[in-house]
Amino acid sequence: MDFSKLWLGYKQLEDCSKKRLIISCEHDLKDSAAVDELKNAAADMMPEAIVLWRSELFDDASYLIVLTVKPELSREEYDIAASDNITEICGGSDIGVLYGVYAFLRRTALEGRFVSFTEHHIPSQPLRMLNHWDNSDGSIERGYSGNSFFFRDGELVVDQRTVMYARLMASAGINATVINNVNVRGLAKHLLSESYADTLTELSELLRRYGIKLFICPDFAAPITVGGLESADPLDVNVINWWTQCCSRLFSSLPNLAGFLVKADSEGQPGPFAYGRDHADGANMLAKAVKPYGGTIIWRCFVYNCTQDWRDEKTDRARSAYDCFKPLDGKFDDNVILQVKNGPMDFQVREPVSPLFGAMDKTNLMAEFQLAQEYTGQQKHVVYLVPMIKEILAHKTHCKGENDEVGKIVCGVAAVANTGDDHCWTGTELAAANLYGYGRLLFDESLSAEQIAEEWIALTFGDDKEVHDKVLEILMESHKAYEDYTVPLGLGWMCKPNNHYGPDPWGYEFDRWGTYNRADRDAVGVERGPEGTGYSTQYSKELADLYGSVENCPDELLLFFHRVPYTHKLHSGKTVIQHIYDTHFEGFEKAEHFAALWDSLESKVDEKTFANVKERFNEQVRCAKEWRDIINCFFHRLSGIDDEKGRKIY
Ligand code: GCU
Repeated sequence: MDFSKLWLGYKQLEDCSKKRLIISCEHDLKDSAAVDELKNAAADMMPEAIVLWRSELFDDASYLIVLTVKPELSREEYDIAASDNITEICGGSDIGVLYGVYAFLRRTALEGRFVSFTEHHIPSQPLRMLNHWDNSDGSIERGYSGNSFFFRDGELVVDQRTVMYARLMASAGINATVINNVNVRGLAKHLLSESYADTLTELSELLRRYGIKLFICPDFAAPITVGGLESADPLDVNVINWWTQCCSRLFSSLPNLAGFLVKADSEGQPGPFAYGRDHADGANMLAKAVKPYGGTIIWRCFVYNCTQDWRDEKTDRARSAYDCFKPLDGKFDDNVILQVKNGPMDFQVREPVSPLFGAMDKTNLMAEFQLAQEYTGQQKHVVYLVPMIKEILAHKTHCKGENDEVGKIVCGVAAVANTGDDHCWTGTELAAANLYGYGRLLFDESLSAEQIAEEWIALTFGDDKEVHDKVLEILMESHKAYEDYTVPLGLGWMCKPNNHYGPDPWGYEFDRWGTYNRADRDAVGVERGPEGTGYSTQYSKELADLYGSVENCPDELLLFFHRVPYTHKLHSGKTVIQHIYDTHFEGFEKAEHFAALWDSLESKVDEKTFANVKERFNEQVRCAKEWRDIINCFFHRLSGIDDEKGRKIY
């Protein structure tokens, strides 16, 4: 096997007195993934033991596991009653049982032995999805972990790695996946026609066994690019018929296909605007075509003008998703879900939460995050994203009275995957904490980001206290450190254009993307209050009042919402310019500290992992220094204000 088992690589249990693992279950479950998982785990945890089906052989040297489907439980719900020699796991379906098995194995692995406990759980988010941005040639858009394991040289691939993928994802709680890039390119041709039919069926069945629904991204213009029609107008009867037939063929042969994810009228992708139609017309047309098969259309809200003139100060990219979709609230079919990026721009290290979450009372919504660290260090820098995701899901929109948190408004969550075909799946071992943590959080929103990190550390590195404490410190402080040495106070961007790695304060400033910082010698920031672009007024009154005034705005978002002089005093008591200097020095020092912590673990972590992570830390420290110096120097020159602590600014 040329890939890691990550958190599913179990260690031998402390107590080896059990020589038999007896599994008792109804016939239907005998071939289930739940049973496979028990056998896999037994091979690692109890290598001497034999696995049997015969409960009459149960004695002191046996461990008995009883698996049952209980129709009174919901599909993904489970109940565990475990003791040190018998465990009963009940689920609402084979998938509920599977989740129960994973929970039981996790607990057993964390304790290092069989323990008595009971657990009852229903996953917090109904739809827990990954979006892979994989292309048919095997490349991955914004991929930092090697190439695609779904596609190789134009072919769809199903092999041992795909099985491991399904196991890892299901064990973290993921229940849906989109296998191809939202920028579909030529792939629609293969996915929507016959060419991948057999392998797609195989993949779909494999995922189904692990409770993972399959989604694909079709090209909105497929009636033209695949079907040879002259138009993709969603109200054209020929177009409607083409999609109806296409879906009939596709869904009949793929019972586990759950629907489409669509990027339309976005960064050059085709969409309904070309025909004078709106996004409800486009989404509903597809929704009707998939409806007979119980399918869902997930429609992205990442729609903005990407050919802006930087001198135009009235057009504000941050406003665009709300401006486009708010007027359509209530017009979408009930099998459409709008997928909204967590912030109004594009996965920056700090953005306000998108106002759309509080604005679409009559529409199904999903939140979209990005585990692929496009703007957060590209898996070369350690940035543990779970605290941020948790904070956003807990964000109160003040729009719906009680239960107005984002996590309660949405019916699902998606994240751009950070995986690829490298040995450790995520470029560096530490980035796997984001993959695991994302799934775990959606599965059980009561967990804290710290608890999840601790769980992941123990499952990955074992129970050494020093490793635990140091890796935990690195993870929990990583997001703040990255934010500190990169872009201050919610300003965003300032990275190198195109590849989005490393500092370039004016890289996006005079370009067409609507991503400006408006820094000059007097002031910095974009005025998005009521007197500026008015973006702050897209929020509920409570939040509009908070963000709309310079006095109330939280420090960390000040430059996102307001344009202020460098001498403006923050709530922290520091001036903006001094805050920039201080955070950049501190952030860099933190990166050095993380690298030193990791170095001190050399004797405690396996050689390959140690070397891989060390190499990443070397790069993180180098790059953090570059960010510190370029950003400090940029603002020092523009403002002409010296650091009050007299540190050297390069
Ligand atoms: C970002 C990213 C693109 C991606 C886009 C999207 O802009 O840089 O590569 O296609 O987001 O979310 O669609």
